[in-house]
Amino acid sequence: MTTDHSDFAIILAAGRGTRMKSDLAKVLHPLVGLPMVEHVVLAAQAAQLAPVVVVNHQEEAVRGALASRSVRFARQEQTRGTGDAVSSALSVLPDTGTVIVLSGDAPLIRASTLQALRGAHEDAAVTVLTAVVGDGAHYGRMERQNDGSPWRIVEAKECSPEQSTITEINTGVYCFSIEWLRAVLPTLKPHAHKNEIYLTDVVELASQSGRCRVVVHADFDEVQGVNDRWELACARRVLQARIVEQHGRNGVDFIDPSSAIIDASVELDADVTVGPGVVLRGATRLGRGVEVGPHCEISDSVVAEGARILSFSLLESATVASRASVGPYARLRPGSSIGEGAKVGNFVEVKQSRLGPGSKVNHLSYIGDTTVGQGANVGAGTITCNYDGFAKSKTEIGKGAFIGSNSALVAPVVVGAGAIVGAGSVITKDVPAASVGIARGTQKNIDGAAERFRARRARGSK
Ligand code: UD1
Ligand code: CA
Repeated sequence: MTTDHSDFAIILAAGRGTRMKSDLAKVLHPLVGLPMVEHVVLAAQAAQLAPVVVVNHQEEAVRGALASRSVRFARQEQTRGTGDAVSSALSVLPDTGTVIVLSGDAPLIRASTLQALRGAHEDAAVTVLTAVVGDGAHYGRMERQNDGSPWRIVEAKECSPEQSTITEINTGVYCFSIEWLRAVLPTLKPHAHKNEIYLTDVVELASQSGRCRVVVHADFDEVQGVNDRWELACARRVLQARIVEQHGRNGVDFIDPSSAIIDASVELDADVTVGPGVVLRGATRLGRGVEVGPHCEISDSVVAEGARILSFSLLESATVASRASVGPYARLRPGSSIGEGAKVGNFVEVKQSRLGPGSKVNHLSYIGDTTVGQGANVGAGTITCNYDGFAKSKTEIGKGAFIGSNSALVAPVVVGAGAIVGAGSVITKDVPAASVGIARGTQKNIDGAAERFRARRARGSK
């Protein structure tokens, strides 16, 4: 736990999230590569707030998902509502000071908004962040007095028809005096409707003593909550657009920005071009000038400057050196390393293999557990037979070697530097350097046989 933060954030993440209709706890659903709740943690930390995450449902999984973050946890013994959730976090906080309460299911919040809320709070008991929307839907409504001052929050399910028309909603983000919260939370009573203690009830108490403030936030996109799968999809779209815009401003060219799917963790250098429908995930890094063609998916891979990944290619835990070319329709599986200027062409699968600089595997091949030397050329349809049904074995193709089309290299086997393998060979023994290895049936030509065959067929005999 860091101690350099002066203020705290309580992040409510104990609920089940029934409306998601999922076995996974709501706050763990992934968005742009991070569990939902982690986005809230990151926003709090960026606003210099020390996060305390309230857990109960799938507690171990939530703790595990945040293990790499500097976060404290508080256990809510029973999920008895948002008021009770905040009470259970108070034991972790100092006696006095300021705390911002956030929902683990509202992942779009920005640090700058939290800082503005903190700034507006001053000596209030509570400062509520609200937003004005066309349809308040399932959000709590901010009800105001006739003079416009804040009054109370009414939950959507408890609204009268008239209250339902209120367009100012509670975002579920608040700034509190910790001392005041300690005094008022124990006085809250459960609501009959859900038998839950509502944090929102403290707003009316603060209004009564003239200590409630409201900050109306202009951007509803940023404060929307996620309660079901559709709201999750909407939140993902917002986060995705932010990521794409940021890369675009840093010099990445998107052919169709709305169709790019890019995790928060992906790093892109300037001058990268991203085609339509491209998916970039995990620890992926693309160097300067890399081109990624339409509909490629790249996960946990590093592609160096000037390399080209052509349409419909799939890369997983692979590295591609500068100026290499991969695809279209190539698949690089984990452990593939493509050397500088090398070429992997269409319908080629590479697994756990190293292709030397300038080497070529241009068409319809499987290269597994193999090293291909510098400048070697692997012909169309070459298969490295790396598996005998029991164990995996290695193939070595030397520098400058040439493998004729439709060859099977039965591992373990070595084709030496500069060697040539005749097309259609099944190579089961090593081919020494600079030799020709050929292993196929000998061709026989029968003079005039084609003519005789046709004549027989024309007479109707076989
Ligand atoms: C809450 C607010 C509502 C507001 C909306 C904004 C209350 C009573 N209502 O409603 O006014 O418009 O957020 O998104 O506060 N949680 C716990 N423990 C519990 C219950 C909930 O940790 O016992 C957590 C949930 O995991 C969730 C968050 O608190 O992350 C909010 O709970 P949820 O049930 O989604 O509240 P809403 O109905 O959305
Ligand atoms: Ca919610």
